[in-house]
Amino acid sequence: MNRIFYVNGSFVDEQDAKISVLDRGFLFADAVYEVSSVLNGKLIDNKAHVVRLHRSLNELGMAPPCSDEELIAHQHRLVELNNLKEGLLYLQVSRGVADRDFAYPTDANSSLVMFTQAKQLLETPAANTGINVISVPDIRWQRRDIKTVGLLAPSMAKQQALDAGVQDAWMVQDGYVTEGTSNNAYIVRDDNVIQTRHLGNEILSGITRSAVLRFARESGYEVVEEPFTVEEVKAASEAFSTSASSFVMPVISIDGTTIGDGKPGKVATGLRKVYIETALEREDL
Ligand code: PDD
Repeated sequence: MNRIFYVNGSFVDEQDAKISVLDRGFLFADAVYEVSSVLNGKLIDNKAHVVRLHRSLNELGMAPPCSDEELIAHQHRLVELNNLKEGLLYLQVSRGVADRDFAYPTDANSSLVMFTQAKQLLETPAANTGINVISVPDIRWQRRDIKTVGLLAPSMAKQQALDAGVQDAWMVQDGYVTEGTSNNAYIVRDDNVIQTRHLGNEILSGITRSAVLRFARESGYEVVEEPFTVEEVKAASEAFSTSASSFVMPVISIDGTTIGDGKPGKVATGLRKVYIETALEREDL
């Protein structure tokens, strides 16, 4: 079956899903995006993603492409048209089309494109085995709280990880882990303290992070929002990451050093289970 794409008001086949070469997303990475997961044909925690989209738009003085009601209706329609049961919905809003100029155009209209990607999210081998990561310097810009499509630095870091034979990279700034290439990073200390970097301009405020930290507190874990070093990761009893595309993913080594007993730990495994069970039960987490 051909995938149907959404482009500025139309649902079209891939060959017709086109935007201008003058789109500012293409020329300046002047665009923001969201990735929501889909389970059983249902968008997971999507309202929170729409709220974060607005924050990104506001930070960049970019107009929303349509009302939230329209946006969410288009999202649901796209999931339906593609008969997507499990996978991801990507949406991107750019400032629109204007002749190339660094200054924001005064007369451009925001553009909205969306597509779906079928993907096994529940039954992924990596969740059972855990993943290995390397640490790399965080060379991204200083407004990582805005979910922009300027993703070359994390893309380079991800490729560096794959070239090194591991699955992801955790980025490090001033001696502290910021986050993974497309996920938030956590360690578990003393079996019941979950530590993850505090929110700020240095990391993205993950929608999954917010839900998982709530589940963690409800399950009786202590949550500490403070930065940690790679040495602390190596000494941790467990490590894991979270994102809409991987939910909770155990991390079993960093830079070749085994974390804990080198197997997915009970905290990460337990939180993954709670996240998935809750997501299957209700739309907003
Ligand atoms: N990435 N940090 C970064 C840098 C990210 O790119 C992401 C998500 C996250 C986790 O955020 P959330 O829990 O809201 O997915 C943290 C998406 C999945 C992506 O770029 O594909």
